[in-house]
Amino acid sequence: MTIVVTGGAGFIGSNFVLDWLGALAEPVVVVDKLTYAGNLGNIAEFADDPRLRFEHCDICDGAAMARVFAAHAPRAVVHFAAETHVDRSIDDAGAFLRTNVEGTFRLLDAALGYWRGLSPVAASEFRFLHVSTDEVYGTLGPDGAPFTETHPHRPNSPYSATKAAADHLVRAWFQTYGLPVLTTNCSNNYGPRQFPEKLIPLMILNALAGKALPLYGDGCNVRDWIYVADHCAGVRRVLETGDPGEVYNLGGGQEKTNIAVVRAVCARLDEVRPRPDGKTYADQLVFVKDRPGHDRRYAIDVSKAERTLDWKPAHTFEAGIATTVDWYLANGAWVASVKTGAYRNWIARQYAGIEP
Ligand code: NAD
Ligand code: TYD
Repeated sequence: MTIVVTGGAGFIGSNFVLDWLGALAEPVVVVDKLTYAGNLGNIAEFADDPRLRFEHCDICDGAAMARVFAAHAPRAVVHFAAETHVDRSIDDAGAFLRTNVEGTFRLLDAALGYWRGLSPVAASEFRFLHVSTDEVYGTLGPDGAPFTETHPHRPNSPYSATKAAADHLVRAWFQTYGLPVLTTNCSNNYGPRQFPEKLIPLMILNALAGKALPLYGDGCNVRDWIYVADHCAGVRRVLETGDPGEVYNLGGGQEKTNIAVVRAVCARLDEVRPRPDGKTYADQLVFVKDRPGHDRRYAIDVSKAERTLDWKPAHTFEAGIATTVDWYLANGAWVASVKTGAYRNWIARQYAGIEP
C-alpha cells in the first residue's frame, strides 16, 4: 500500500509527510513541481528512507500524472499542490488558474482513469482527498456565524476563486463519476517550514532583520489560526474515516486580529532573542496600504469534524507561536536556502517604500 501526496515539498505537505513517515509504516510518493514554494530540504530527514519516493512533476501534465498512478498504484491521493499566496494571486493570477484549476482537473482525470481499472474492493477503498481553504467561503462581519460546510462559496481573491473552482471540480467528479473524494476546508496554518511570504514567518524574519513589520490596513482583519500539525492530523483522520463525497471544515478555534498575531510573535522574540537596544520588536510595526479585496474576517465551525472524526486541534495559539518562533531561530540555514533571488524580488516589489 502507498499514498501519493501532491505538493509534499511545500509547507503543509512536507509537515504531513514528516508526520506520516514518523508515525506509520506506509510509503509516500511525493509529487511536486518544486516551484519557488517547494523545497526538497523540507523532507530531507527521510531522503534515504525507501518509504519516501519523489516524482518531480507538474500536476498539469496529465500524461505524467497517469504514469505516476500506474507506476505506484496508490490507495489514496492527498492533494496539497497549489499556488497559495493571496498577494501573488492579485499580482498575477495566471499560475493560480493553471495549477489550482487545470492541475486539479488533470489530477482528477488521471485518478479517475486509474480508479476505473481497480478491482471492486480496491476501487471502493480508494480515496482522493482534496485539501482546500476556508477562504472559499468569503468574508464575515464581526458578528457573522463561523463558516459551516454548507456556507455558500463566495470567494473574493483570485486565489480563493481558483480554490473554490477546484472544490467544485472535486465535487463534480464524485457526483458525475462516483470517484470517492473527500474535501477539507481549513483555516490559516502556521508552523515550521512555512514560506516567508506569509504573515507569521515574514514577521519573524523582518523583526530579526530590524525591518518594518507591515500590517495591511488597520491591522484588525481577523483570521482563525491552526498549528500545522493539528491540520495534518485532521487530514489523516478524514482520510481514515471520512465519508466519500463529504466536506469537512478544519480550524484551530483561535480567532485573532493580525495585530494581535504580530504582537504575539514580537513578545516571543522579546523573550528568547531580545533586541540589542532593549526595546520591543513591536516598535517595528507599521501600517501600510491595504490589500485590495481584503477579507475582513474568517471564522470556522469545526463541529462536524469534532463530532464525526473524533478530531480536535491540540495546540493553543501561544504554544504554537512559541514553537514556530523557536523553529525559525534554530533553522537559519533553511531560511537562507529559501531566500532566493526570486523571493527577494517579490519582497522588494510588494513592500516597496515601507522600510522604516
Ligand atoms: P505552499 O505554497 O507552501 O506549497 C505548495 C506546494 O505545491 C509546493 O511544494 C509547490 O512546489 C507545489 N506545487 C505548486 N504548483 C505545482 C504544480 N503545478 N505541480 C506540482 N506541484 C506544485 O502551500 P501550503 O501553504 O503548504 O498549502 C498547501 C495546500 O493547503 C494548498 O492546497 C492550500 O490551498 C491549502 N491550504 C493552505 C492553508 C495555509 O494557511 N497555508 C490553509 C488552508 C488550506
Ligand atoms: P497571509 O499569511 O497572506 O494569509 P491569507 O491572506 O491567506 O489569510 O495573511 C494573513 C493576514 O495577514 C491577512 O489578513 C493579510 C495580513 N498580512 C499583513 O497585514 N501584512 C503582510 O505583510 C502579509 C503578508 C499579510
